[in-house]
Amino acid sequence: MTDWRALNRANWDERVPVHLGPRGYDMAGLEAGTARLNAIEEAELGSVAGLRLLHLQCHFGRDTLILAQRGASVVGLDFSAPAIEAACALAERLRLGDAARFVQADLYDAPAAIGEAAGFDLVYVTWGTLCWLPDIQGWARVVSHFLKPGGYLYLAEGHPAAQVLDDATPLPDGRPRFFAPYFHEAALVLNESRDYVDSEARLENATTHQWIHPLGHVVTALIDAGMRLDWLHEHPAVTWRMFACLEADAAGLFRWPDKPWLPLAYSLRASKAG
Ligand SMILES: C[S@@+](CC[C@H](N)C(=O)[O-])C[C@H]1O[C@@H](n2cnc3c(N)ncnc32)[C@H](O)[C@@H]1O
Repeated sequence: MTDWRALNRANWDERVPVHLGPRGYDMAGLEAGTARLNAIEEAELGSVAGLRLLHLQCHFGRDTLILAQRGASVVGLDFSAPAIEAACALAERLRLGDAARFVQADLYDAPAAIGEAAGFDLVYVTWGTLCWLPDIQGWARVVSHFLKPGGYLYLAEGHPAAQVLDDATPLPDGRPRFFAPYFHEAALVLNESRDYVDSEARLENATTHQWIHPLGHVVTALIDAGMRLDWLHEHPAVTWRMFACLEADAAGLFRWPDKPWLPLAYSLRASKAG
Protein backbone atom coordinates (compact mmCIF):
# COMPACT_ATOMS: atom_id res chain seq x y z
CA MET A 1 0.00 0.00 0.00
CA THR A 2 1.48 3.37 -0.97
CA ASP A 3 1.72 6.07 1.62
CA TRP A 4 -1.14 8.29 0.39
CA ARG A 5 -3.57 5.40 0.41
CA ALA A 6 -2.60 4.23 3.92
CA LEU A 7 -2.87 7.74 5.33
CA ASN A 8 -6.19 8.46 3.65
CA ARG A 9 -7.65 5.12 4.67
CA ALA A 10 -6.68 5.59 8.30
CA ASN A 11 -8.37 9.00 8.21
CA TRP A 12 -11.60 7.60 6.73
CA ASP A 13 -11.62 4.52 8.98
CA GLU A 14 -11.49 6.84 11.99
CA ARG A 15 -14.36 8.98 10.68
CA VAL A 16 -16.81 6.08 10.36
CA PRO A 17 -17.71 5.73 14.07
CA VAL A 18 -17.76 9.52 14.34
CA HIS A 19 -20.28 9.76 11.50
CA LEU A 20 -22.38 6.97 13.01
CA GLY A 21 -22.24 8.56 16.47
CA PRO A 22 -24.65 10.94 18.19
CA ARG A 23 -23.36 14.06 16.40
CA GLY A 24 -22.93 12.27 13.07
CA TYR A 25 -25.12 11.83 10.01
CA ASP A 26 -28.89 12.06 10.44
CA MET A 27 -30.11 8.48 10.07
CA ALA A 28 -33.75 8.91 11.12
CA GLY A 29 -35.04 9.45 7.59
CA LEU A 30 -33.21 6.39 6.28
CA GLU A 31 -34.62 4.24 9.09
CA ALA A 32 -38.13 5.56 8.29
CA GLY A 33 -37.72 5.16 4.53
CA THR A 34 -38.28 8.88 3.98
CA ALA A 35 -34.69 10.18 3.65
CA ARG A 36 -33.85 12.87 1.10
CA LEU A 37 -30.61 13.34 -0.79
CA ASN A 38 -29.19 16.87 -0.93
CA ALA A 39 -31.27 19.47 -2.79
CA ILE A 40 -28.89 19.45 -5.80
CA GLU A 41 -29.20 15.69 -6.44
CA GLU A 42 -32.93 15.72 -5.70
CA ALA A 43 -33.42 18.35 -8.41
CA GLU A 44 -31.23 16.67 -11.02
CA LEU A 45 -31.16 12.90 -10.59
CA GLY A 46 -34.65 11.75 -11.58
CA SER A 47 -36.10 8.32 -10.87
CA VAL A 48 -33.70 5.47 -10.17
CA ALA A 49 -36.40 2.80 -9.85
CA GLY A 50 -35.42 -0.37 -11.66
CA LEU A 51 -31.87 0.80 -12.39
CA ARG A 52 -28.72 -1.23 -11.71
CA LEU A 53 -26.68 1.39 -9.85
CA LEU A 54 -23.03 1.52 -8.76
CA HIS A 55 -22.17 3.98 -5.98
CA LEU A 56 -18.43 4.65 -5.94
CA GLN A 57 -16.84 5.85 -2.65
CA CYS A 58 -20.12 5.13 -0.86
CA HIS A 59 -18.82 5.72 2.72
CA PHE A 60 -21.08 3.74 5.11
CA GLY A 61 -23.83 3.47 2.51
CA ARG A 62 -26.40 6.02 3.64
CA ASP A 63 -27.03 7.44 0.16
CA THR A 64 -26.60 3.99 -1.41
CA LEU A 65 -29.42 2.65 0.74
CA ILE A 66 -31.65 5.68 0.05
CA LEU A 67 -31.26 4.84 -3.64
CA ALA A 68 -32.09 1.19 -2.89
CA GLN A 69 -35.21 2.31 -1.01
CA ARG A 70 -36.20 4.14 -4.20
CA GLY A 71 -36.12 0.93 -6.19
CA ALA A 72 -32.55 0.76 -7.55
CA SER A 73 -30.51 -2.42 -7.30
CA VAL A 74 -27.26 -1.09 -5.87
CA VAL A 75 -23.60 -1.94 -5.39
CA GLY A 76 -21.61 0.35 -3.10
CA LEU A 77 -17.81 0.43 -3.09
CA ASP A 78 -15.46 2.03 -0.58
CA PHE A 79 -11.88 1.30 0.54
CA SER A 80 -12.69 1.68 4.25
CA ALA A 81 -13.34 -1.66 5.99
CA PRO A 82 -15.32 -0.12 8.90
CA ALA A 83 -17.43 1.82 6.38
CA ILE A 84 -18.30 -1.32 4.42
CA GLU A 85 -18.97 -3.32 7.60
CA ALA A 86 -21.37 -0.59 8.75
CA ALA A 87 -23.04 -0.45 5.32
CA CYS A 88 -23.64 -4.22 5.32
CA ALA A 89 -25.08 -4.12 8.85
CA LEU A 90 -27.34 -1.19 7.93
CA ALA A 91 -28.59 -2.97 4.79
CA GLU A 92 -29.46 -6.05 6.87
CA ARG A 93 -31.23 -3.99 9.53
CA LEU A 94 -33.28 -2.16 6.89
CA ARG A 95 -34.07 -5.46 5.10
CA LEU A 96 -32.34 -4.19 1.97
CA GLY A 97 -29.90 -7.10 1.78
CA ASP A 98 -31.37 -8.34 -1.52
CA ALA A 99 -31.21 -4.92 -3.18
CA ALA A 100 -27.81 -3.78 -1.92
CA ARG A 101 -24.33 -5.30 -2.08
CA PHE A 102 -21.25 -3.61 -0.61
CA VAL A 103 -17.65 -4.19 -1.67
CA GLN A 104 -14.49 -3.10 0.14
CA ALA A 105 -11.83 -2.15 -2.40
CA ASP A 106 -9.75 0.73 -3.61
CA LEU A 107 -11.42 2.72 -6.40
CA TYR A 108 -8.74 1.73 -8.89
CA ASP A 109 -9.21 -1.97 -8.04
CA ALA A 110 -12.99 -1.80 -8.52
CA PRO A 111 -13.11 -3.64 -11.89
CA ALA A 112 -11.45 -6.73 -10.37
CA ALA A 113 -13.29 -6.45 -7.05
CA ILE A 114 -16.82 -6.06 -8.43
CA GLY A 115 -16.82 -7.81 -11.80
CA GLU A 116 -19.92 -6.84 -13.80
CA ALA A 117 -18.12 -4.98 -16.61
CA ALA A 118 -20.70 -2.95 -18.58
CA GLY A 119 -23.23 -4.06 -15.97
CA PHE A 120 -24.67 -0.79 -14.69
CA ASP A 121 -27.27 1.74 -15.89
CA LEU A 122 -25.99 4.44 -13.53
CA VAL A 123 -22.69 5.16 -11.80
CA TYR A 124 -23.33 7.55 -8.91
CA VAL A 125 -20.52 9.69 -7.43
CA THR A 126 -21.17 12.57 -5.07
CA TRP A 127 -19.51 15.05 -2.71
CA GLY A 128 -15.97 14.71 -1.50
CA THR A 129 -14.82 11.91 -3.77
CA LEU A 130 -12.47 13.06 -6.56
CA CYS A 131 -10.18 15.01 -4.20
CA TRP A 132 -9.06 11.64 -2.73
CA LEU A 133 -7.93 10.27 -6.10
CA PRO A 134 -4.55 11.01 -7.70
CA ASP A 135 -5.37 9.86 -11.26
CA ILE A 136 -8.51 11.36 -12.78
CA GLN A 137 -8.07 9.57 -16.10
CA GLY A 138 -7.85 6.24 -14.28
CA TRP A 139 -11.03 7.16 -12.39
CA ALA A 140 -12.86 7.97 -15.65
CA ARG A 141 -11.79 4.61 -17.12
CA VAL A 142 -13.22 2.84 -14.05
CA VAL A 143 -16.55 4.68 -14.45
CA SER A 144 -16.71 3.88 -18.17
CA HIS A 145 -15.76 0.24 -17.56
CA PHE A 146 -18.90 -0.32 -15.48
CA LEU A 147 -21.49 1.42 -17.66
CA LYS A 148 -23.74 -0.36 -20.11
CA PRO A 149 -23.93 1.31 -23.53
CA GLY A 150 -26.33 4.22 -23.00
CA GLY A 151 -25.79 4.09 -19.22
CA TYR A 152 -24.68 7.27 -17.49
CA LEU A 153 -22.58 8.80 -14.74
CA TYR A 154 -24.14 11.27 -12.29
CA LEU A 155 -21.38 13.28 -10.60
CA ALA A 156 -21.87 16.06 -8.03
CA GLU A 157 -18.77 17.55 -6.44
CA GLY A 158 -17.22 20.50 -4.69
CA HIS A 159 -15.93 22.89 -7.36
CA PRO A 160 -12.15 22.88 -7.92
CA ALA A 161 -12.24 26.69 -8.20
CA ALA A 162 -13.31 26.75 -4.54
CA GLN A 163 -10.72 24.15 -3.53
CA VAL A 164 -7.99 26.78 -3.98
CA LEU A 165 -9.32 28.70 -0.95
CA ASP A 166 -9.26 27.99 2.76
CA ASP A 167 -10.05 29.57 6.10
CA ALA A 168 -6.52 29.40 7.58
CA THR A 169 -5.97 33.17 7.33
CA PRO A 170 -9.29 34.70 6.25
CA LEU A 171 -9.68 38.13 4.67
CA PRO A 172 -10.76 40.95 7.04
CA ASP A 173 -14.42 40.43 6.04
CA GLY A 174 -14.21 36.70 6.85
CA ARG A 175 -13.97 35.37 3.31
CA PRO A 176 -11.41 32.61 2.67
CA ARG A 177 -8.04 33.33 1.07
CA PHE A 178 -6.01 31.57 -1.64
CA PHE A 179 -4.06 28.61 -0.34
CA ALA A 180 -3.36 26.38 -3.39
CA PRO A 181 -3.10 27.07 -7.14
CA TYR A 182 -5.93 25.73 -9.31
CA PHE A 183 -3.41 23.91 -11.53
CA HIS A 184 -1.41 22.39 -8.65
CA GLU A 185 -0.69 18.84 -9.84
CA ALA A 186 1.05 17.23 -6.87
CA ALA A 187 -0.78 15.97 -3.80
CA LEU A 188 -1.77 18.57 -1.24
CA VAL A 189 -0.57 17.16 2.07
CA LEU A 190 -3.09 18.45 4.58
CA ASN A 191 -3.26 18.24 8.35
CA GLU A 192 -6.83 18.66 9.57
CA SER A 193 -7.97 17.01 12.76
CA ARG A 194 -11.51 18.41 12.57
CA ASP A 195 -14.40 16.55 11.00
CA TYR A 196 -16.97 18.11 8.65
CA VAL A 197 -19.98 16.53 10.40
CA ASP A 198 -19.09 16.40 14.11
CA SER A 199 -17.46 19.69 15.09
CA GLU A 200 -16.46 18.26 18.50
CA ALA A 201 -14.54 15.27 17.10
CA ARG A 202 -10.74 15.43 16.85
CA LEU A 203 -9.11 12.93 14.48
CA GLU A 204 -5.80 11.30 15.34
CA ASN A 205 -5.19 10.34 11.72
CA ALA A 206 -5.22 13.94 10.58
CA THR A 207 -2.72 13.87 7.71
CA THR A 208 -4.21 13.23 4.28
CA HIS A 209 -3.18 13.52 0.65
CA GLN A 210 -5.68 15.24 -1.62
CA TRP A 211 -5.72 16.46 -5.19
CA ILE A 212 -7.33 19.31 -7.12
CA HIS A 213 -8.81 18.15 -10.43
CA PRO A 214 -9.59 21.11 -12.70
CA LEU A 215 -13.04 20.90 -14.27
CA GLY A 216 -11.60 20.61 -17.79
CA HIS A 217 -9.48 17.64 -16.73
CA VAL A 218 -12.53 15.82 -15.34
CA VAL A 219 -14.68 16.40 -18.43
CA THR A 220 -11.86 15.55 -20.85
CA ALA A 221 -10.98 12.39 -18.91
CA LEU A 222 -14.60 11.23 -19.26
CA ILE A 223 -14.62 11.97 -23.01
CA ASP A 224 -11.27 10.18 -23.44
CA ALA A 225 -12.78 7.17 -21.63
CA GLY A 226 -15.58 6.91 -24.19
CA MET A 227 -18.28 9.04 -22.59
CA ARG A 228 -20.36 11.95 -23.90
CA LEU A 229 -21.15 15.00 -21.76
CA ASP A 230 -24.94 15.44 -21.51
CA TRP A 231 -24.90 18.52 -19.28
CA LEU A 232 -22.70 20.38 -16.81
CA HIS A 233 -24.03 22.67 -14.06
CA GLU A 234 -22.02 25.01 -11.83
CA HIS A 235 -23.67 25.91 -8.51
CA PRO A 236 -23.23 28.94 -6.22
CA ALA A 237 -24.03 26.61 -3.31
CA VAL A 238 -22.63 23.42 -1.84
CA THR A 239 -23.84 20.73 0.55
CA TRP A 240 -21.52 21.40 3.48
CA ARG A 241 -20.10 24.51 5.18
CA MET A 242 -17.01 24.61 2.96
CA PHE A 243 -15.96 28.00 4.42
CA ALA A 244 -16.88 29.56 7.76
CA CYS A 245 -18.46 32.61 6.07
CA LEU A 246 -21.00 30.57 4.04
CA GLU A 247 -24.64 30.80 5.10
CA ALA A 248 -27.21 28.00 5.12
CA ASP A 249 -30.21 28.49 2.85
CA ALA A 250 -33.74 27.13 3.22
CA ALA A 251 -32.84 24.05 1.14
CA GLY A 252 -29.96 23.09 3.45
CA LEU A 253 -27.24 24.26 1.03
CA PHE A 254 -24.43 26.70 1.92
CA ARG A 255 -23.94 29.94 -0.05
CA TRP A 256 -21.75 33.02 -0.08
CA PRO A 257 -23.25 35.61 2.28
CA ASP A 258 -23.38 38.52 -0.18
CA LYS A 259 -22.54 37.81 -3.85
CA PRO A 260 -22.00 34.49 -5.68
CA TRP A 261 -18.22 35.09 -5.90
CA LEU A 262 -17.19 31.71 -7.27
CA PRO A 263 -18.92 28.40 -7.99
CA LEU A 264 -18.89 26.19 -4.91
CA ALA A 265 -20.07 22.97 -6.59
CA TYR A 266 -20.67 21.39 -9.99
CA SER A 267 -22.66 18.47 -11.26
CA LEU A 268 -22.69 16.68 -14.57
CA ARG A 269 -24.23 13.82 -16.43
CA ALA A 270 -22.13 11.87 -18.95
CA SER A 271 -23.36 8.91 -21.00
CA LYS A 272 -21.52 5.89 -22.27
CA ALA A 273 -21.54 5.72 -26.05
CA GLY A 274 -24.01 3.13 -27.38
C1 LIG B 1 -16.74 12.27 1.62
S1 LIG B 1 -16.88 10.54 1.55
C2 LIG B 1 -18.10 10.32 0.31
C3 LIG B 1 -19.42 10.46 0.89
C4 LIG B 1 -20.49 9.99 -0.04
N1 LIG B 1 -20.94 11.09 -0.83
C5 LIG B 1 -21.64 9.39 0.68
O1 LIG B 1 -22.41 8.74 0.02
O2 LIG B 1 -21.79 9.54 1.90
C6 LIG B 1 -15.44 10.00 0.68
C7 LIG B 1 -15.34 8.48 0.67
O3 LIG B 1 -14.31 8.12 -0.25
C8 LIG B 1 -13.68 6.97 0.25
N2 LIG B 1 -12.39 6.85 -0.42
C9 LIG B 1 -11.35 7.72 -0.39
N3 LIG B 1 -10.35 7.29 -1.16
C10 LIG B 1 -10.75 6.12 -1.73
C11 LIG B 1 -10.15 5.19 -2.61
N4 LIG B 1 -8.90 5.37 -3.09
N5 LIG B 1 -10.85 4.08 -2.98
C12 LIG B 1 -12.11 3.88 -2.48
N6 LIG B 1 -12.72 4.71 -1.62
C13 LIG B 1 -12.06 5.84 -1.24
C14 LIG B 1 -13.62 7.19 1.75
O4 LIG B 1 -13.46 6.00 2.50
C15 LIG B 1 -14.96 7.88 2.01
O5 LIG B 1 -15.92 6.95 2.42
